[in-house]
Amino acid sequence: RLVYVLNGPNLNLLGKRQPEIYGRETLADVEADCLKAAAALGLQLRFHQSNREYELIDWIHEARETAGGIVINPGAFTHTSIAILDALNAFDGVVIEVHISNVHKREEFRHKSYVSLRADGVMAGFGTQGYTLALQRVARLLDQKT
Ligand code: DQA
Repeated sequence: RLVYVLNGPNLNLLGKRQPEIYGRETLADVEADCLKAAAALGLQLRFHQSNREYELIDWIHEARETAGGIVINPGAFTHTSIAILDALNAFDGVVIEVHISNVHKREEFRHKSYVSLRADGVMAGFGTQGYTLALQRVARLLDQKT
């Protein structure tokens, strides 16, 4: 039961970038939390971050062959990337979209998500806890499939 946790642009700066919005936890902290949660849920993880759209797309393609689920915070690509939506549409497993901030409380341009057209569920405004909550949901949906 392999799950990809994918993070898009600027999330490498998590903990330093706009901490009043995104908090003080770093992406390394998030990865550690996810690894702990995954072990408890019987999931294996591949955790990646990139500022490049094509790398995220390549990891989604890789997940097609190997993974049952994808947890993805596409960063600003959420609001712009038909290419990431298309890649996720070519993936058969569970997809959960994560946003650390409550995007619906923010600027109008963050209210639209291409990725939500494919996601089985969306976490927004739960801070970095959203990632482990998303993993719980992936585990539940994978249990229901078997
Ligand atoms: C984000 C919200 C996006 O609008 C923004 O561009 C990000 C982070 C979030 O986690 O809250 O980079 O996806």
